[in-house]
Amino acid sequence: MQKLSDIKEIKLEDLKPDAFIKQQIKEISAAVGKGVAINALSGGVDSSVVTMLGHRALGDHLRTVFIENGIMREGEPERVVKLFKGLGVKVELVDAKKEFFGALKGLVDPEEKREAITQTFYKTVFGRIVRESKAKYLLQGTNYTDVEETVAGIKRQHNILEQLGIDTKKEFGYQVLEPIIQLRKTAVRKVGKALEVPEEIYNRPPFPGPALATRVIGEVTPKRVATVRKATAIVEEELQGTKAFQWLAILHQDKVTGIRANKRDFGQQIEVRCWDSKDAVTGTPTELPFETLTRLADRITSEVPGVVSVTYNVTKKPPSTIEAI
Ligand code: XMP
Repeated sequence: MQKLSDIKEIKLEDLKPDAFIKQQIKEISAAVGKGVAINALSGGVDSSVVTMLGHRALGDHLRTVFIENGIMREGEPERVVKLFKGLGVKVELVDAKKEFFGALKGLVDPEEKREAITQTFYKTVFGRIVRESKAKYLLQGTNYTDVEETVAGIKRQHNILEQLGIDTKKEFGYQVLEPIIQLRKTAVRKVGKALEVPEEIYNRPPFPGPALATRVIGEVTPKRVATVRKATAIVEEELQGTKAFQWLAILHQDKVTGIRANKRDFGQQIEVRCWDSKDAVTGTPTELPFETLTRLADRITSEVPGVVSVTYNVTKKPPSTIEAI
């Protein structure tokens, strides 16, 4: 990573997307030459834009991997791989579900769960792939907000190399390339549009890095993720037409007494949240029609096995947060 103080923001009003793209392609090509670069694609806006810039600059000399961590939304890994295939980009799907669930086993504390996911991604899985690939360059989607948060000490570390636990300069001579480091999210979306990335990617509603694990209260097991994944699919289907900022489903830890086929059913609870917000810093619950809420409850309790109760969060952020962990 460059020295933080040397990085200058390119403001949205000053951004000329086509010139920016040309410049980044030139810089990536010049840096990598005939070598090989690697990057991890998640399907989010930042990593998608970096993948397209790298692809345009390097073609087959860019190796793009999608790490299937087991906590993605329904059909997401396959959808992202297929979508990029349509754009001419080959993406390798790496199945790392066992490693992630192994690391999450027995953890209930939110911060411990986040840490386990970060460590498994950077150290165990991506670290191994990078070492095996013998790539000398890593393309990373660090953006200007990440730089600011690093400076402010909000996020501990944004340098992938240090997260890998490797002094790569000394040991391997790796170089990190961060083509969107001068842009904030809105500017990154604009570059994505100019790169002809589909709108469903460049205008994607926010989704957290630790994925569905941020929506499972208590232990993150394959079974519990399957429950929240199904509920998420229903919430996304029902609310995608709303103008809200973000919508999600959360699986609670406590069970409650329900009734099914005239029998007591001690089952699980799903909480639905839907947010109006500009920047995710503050938020208010969207005033969804009661009819929408009851439809969500009917569908979730009938289509998601084991769920007997659905609630809607009516708390503002703060004191709530957008996600549950
Ligand atoms: P919270 O829950 O902190 O979320 O109110 C604010 C916004 O950030 C997203 N979020 C994350 N995004 N990694 C991310 O990339 C994370 O660990 C993470 N946690 C929360 C969240 O979806 C919301 O848009």
